[in-house]
Amino acid sequence: MNILLTGGAGYIGSHTCVILLEQGYDVIVVDNLCNSQVTSLKRVEQITGKKILFYQEDLCNPAGVDEIFRQNSIDAVIHFAGLKSVAESVDQPLRYYQNNIDGTLVLCEVMQANGVKSLVFSSSATVYGNPESVPINENAPVGAFNPYGRSKLFIEKILTDLYFADKSWNISLLRYFNPVGAHPSGLIGEDPFGLPNNLMPYISQVAVGKIPELQIFGDDYETPDGTGVRDYIHVMDLAQGHLGALEKLASDPGLVTYNLGTGKGFSVLEMVAAFEKAAGKKIPYKIVGRRPGDIPTCYANPSFAEKELGWTARRGIDEMCADAWRWQSMNPKGYV
Ligand code: NAD
Ligand code: WQD
Repeated sequence: MNILLTGGAGYIGSHTCVILLEQGYDVIVVDNLCNSQVTSLKRVEQITGKKILFYQEDLCNPAGVDEIFRQNSIDAVIHFAGLKSVAESVDQPLRYYQNNIDGTLVLCEVMQANGVKSLVFSSSATVYGNPESVPINENAPVGAFNPYGRSKLFIEKILTDLYFADKSWNISLLRYFNPVGAHPSGLIGEDPFGLPNNLMPYISQVAVGKIPELQIFGDDYETPDGTGVRDYIHVMDLAQGHLGALEKLASDPGLVTYNLGTGKGFSVLEMVAAFEKAAGKKIPYKIVGRRPGDIPTCYANPSFAEKELGWTARRGIDEMCADAWRWQSMNPKGYV
């Protein structure tokens, strides 16, 4: 089976490539490399001993995307491509809406024109906004509060409308919690351009000496130690969830939403302690004010994905930190 991964050269996409290739799928990647490097795919080929067909193309270019579908017999699409920085989206809302929404519209139009109607979409727990209660079920109220989050929510609505207009589509909306870690080989991992926005790559870059210290955004939340609590999920477990979703699409499920998380929350200070243990070194940090828009606590109820997909996250925070550290220490400058 030929699976097209949009944004497949990125962090989650490259790890998913490994899982798919190891399962015997043929993988085609379309990526404009605006936030990734083609080296990630070379490393995936090194890990798996298999080839990836790569197209450097912008998803917002209908003719270019259509050409990929014409040249290949594509069975299903996993749609990772998108811009993902919350802060950047607040500064550049039009760019975020244009890239994320237009890219999705073009993809769906081209899929429809080529008779491909199986789609897995990278959504985010960010669509739940500040949850009323935890753990969060898929039917909890949604309400993102930044342009990035709203772009995910709007895309979910667009895909829902598409499904109700034509029920021959099969669509999986995957709401990821906080993906971290790396492939255990240390050959692929998260390689943010510029200063990291997210906690784990930030800690990793402090550990490797690229950044002098971590700033912890607030220790006065209503959480056990006052720092924010999140559901960190190993990227290999997340990648495995895509395989489950893909296999489920083949059984004609219609439109379904799944939380992909572990169901457990860890605080910033707990993550720092786990990373210190994995790396065998202290992470210097200082407590600063809260980051605007942050919420105190967020973790999933992942039981629906377990029931429907037979999927569960297996790796704990020690493995997440050990794998993140292996990647960062083997590649202190990322893919460069
Ligand atoms: P990433 O930036 O590493 O990967 C996204 C890829 O999409 C990049 O390789 C980028 O070059 C590509 N891309 C972006 N716009 C494109 C376009 N118009 N045409 C072609 N390629 C384009 O990000 P990631 O962490 O791997 O995230 C993958 C998806 O998962 C994104 O949609 C993101 O919003 C979503 N997500 C990520 C997280 C997270 O914390 N990493 C959490 C929830 C959801
Ligand atoms: C985790 C915790 C911070 C950095 C974001 C997006 C979300 C999703 C995942 C895509 C929080 C604290 C962080 C730092 C810190 N992305 N922190 N110092 O905010 O849960 O989610 O990424 O969909 O949409 O909003 O993840 O890793 O940024 O933060 O203290 O330098 O770490 O305050 O409590 P977040 P994060």
